[in-house]
Amino acid sequence: MNYEIKVFKNKQILAETITIDLLNARAESPKNRRFTMALAGGNTPRSIYEQWAKVQNDKLWGKVHFFWGDERCLPPDHEESNYKMANDALLSKIGIKETQVHRVRGEDNPEKEVQRYADEIVQCVPKSNDLFPRFDWILLGVGTDGHTASLFPDSMAAREQSSICVLAQHPQTGQKRISLMLPVINNAKKITFLATGQEKAEIVREILKNDSKSANYPAAQINPQSGILQWYLDEAAASKL
Ligand code: 6PG
Repeated sequence: MNYEIKVFKNKQILAETITIDLLNARAESPKNRRFTMALAGGNTPRSIYEQWAKVQNDKLWGKVHFFWGDERCLPPDHEESNYKMANDALLSKIGIKETQVHRVRGEDNPEKEVQRYADEIVQCVPKSNDLFPRFDWILLGVGTDGHTASLFPDSMAAREQSSICVLAQHPQTGQKRISLMLPVINNAKKITFLATGQEKAEIVREILKNDSKSANYPAAQINPQSGILQWYLDEAAASKL
């Protein structure tokens, strides 16, 4: 697996650095072409989205199309909605058009929404190998059980290799979620894992040191065939490397 690891003193410096990465990525991408991103959910990315919101520049945001790597099947104003977190921290503050936001409609029937969201991705995200859409950049978090997006260990969803999206269920809470699948994630041009805090140190070690325990972790199966894989960690999450 080819990847780069960057360790930052704290979350703020990580957020500032990934903001520079975003500016560079936009400067390097063709001006007239849309830039497709899949945002991570959970808590870790919030400080990054808040840092990005400080960049008030429609040249930067005008062509960015926002998707989610996964979403909880909840209304968009629910406290646990990944869309709500990103909208409060970033999307509502950067003057983008509604047509640039491609949220999972968590309030709708999950079985129908899986297909509708997949169709929207196919419509908006160019394919690379005629099989799967190729996002410009996917941000991912990692759970202490080795899940990423909403692909959980021992779940059939994580093994499915033909779909774009899947209806998943949180193993503890039973909460329904819609998630991108491994083939789409691994087809991205760039994937950045975000992990901070001491609680992530062990799972980061198991994955990055290829510990035998990680064999069944979906986060350990993230390996872009022709893309960049990055692990952005703070010192606490990197403390066992
Ligand atoms: C979700 C996320 C999930 C998250 C990890 C890490 O919807 O919960 O997409 O995959 O990234 O669980 O979450 P934290 O950043 O809160 O630790």
